[in-house]
Amino acid sequence: MSEHSKSSWQIKGAAVLDELIALMGLTAEDARLLGALEATAAARGPQMADDFYGRLGAHAQAVEFIADKPMAGLHKTIIEWFTQLFCGKYDAQYAARRLRIGEVHVRIGLPVRYPLAMLDVILPHGVAIAETSSNPEAARRAFFKVLALDAAIFNQAYEDNQLAHLVEMVGGEMLARRLLTGQA
Ligand code: HEM
Repeated sequence: MSEHSKSSWQIKGAAVLDELIALMGLTAEDARLLGALEATAAARGPQMADDFYGRLGAHAQAVEFIADKPMAGLHKTIIEWFTQLFCGKYDAQYAARRLRIGEVHVRIGLPVRYPLAMLDVILPHGVAIAETSSNPEAARRAFFKVLALDAAIFNQAYEDNQLAHLVEMVGGEMLARRLLTGQA
């Protein structure tokens, strides 16, 4: 590995999840606690979706991205996404699915600050669900971890896209990385 290269740069695609799980210390017990709350999350999904699109609908710039989409479809996808946070199985398939969701937002040109800011709406709903766990404190901490994982994976889709385009333009990843870090 050269002086300028970093081993994290070699971790690509769904492999990012394993790395993040290690970074965050997500345990099998965390996964079990969350999985036990899946039905509660599904039941709370519609309320969360109302808050989610209530917040977005009040923001003119965000509305530009959703105005022409059927609201029922958007509600369904966000409810599914929210429920899957509590699926209890955080494997490569899960990571690939979450990366793909990030990619969908890259393709519609959505500034990444909007989805990241929307975590504020999602958090209290997750916390309320964790409160119903047999171990609320541990479930809350586990929920914070999977939400942080999701935000990281979502963001990774944006970074991957920008890097891929730059690599294509300049003809190599090392040069692209050096440009991004202001070293070229
Ligand atoms: C935490 C934040 C967000 C999550 C978890 C989320 C989740 C999702 C999911 C699961 C889908 C379906 C993806 C698929 O087709 O597989 C989707 C689609 C979509 N999202 Fe989001 N979203 C978020 C933020 C936003 C924001 C802030 C906007 C707009 C301001 C937005 C606009 C859209 C649109 C327009 C689609 C449909 C894209 C298409 O099918 O053409 N999303 N979102």
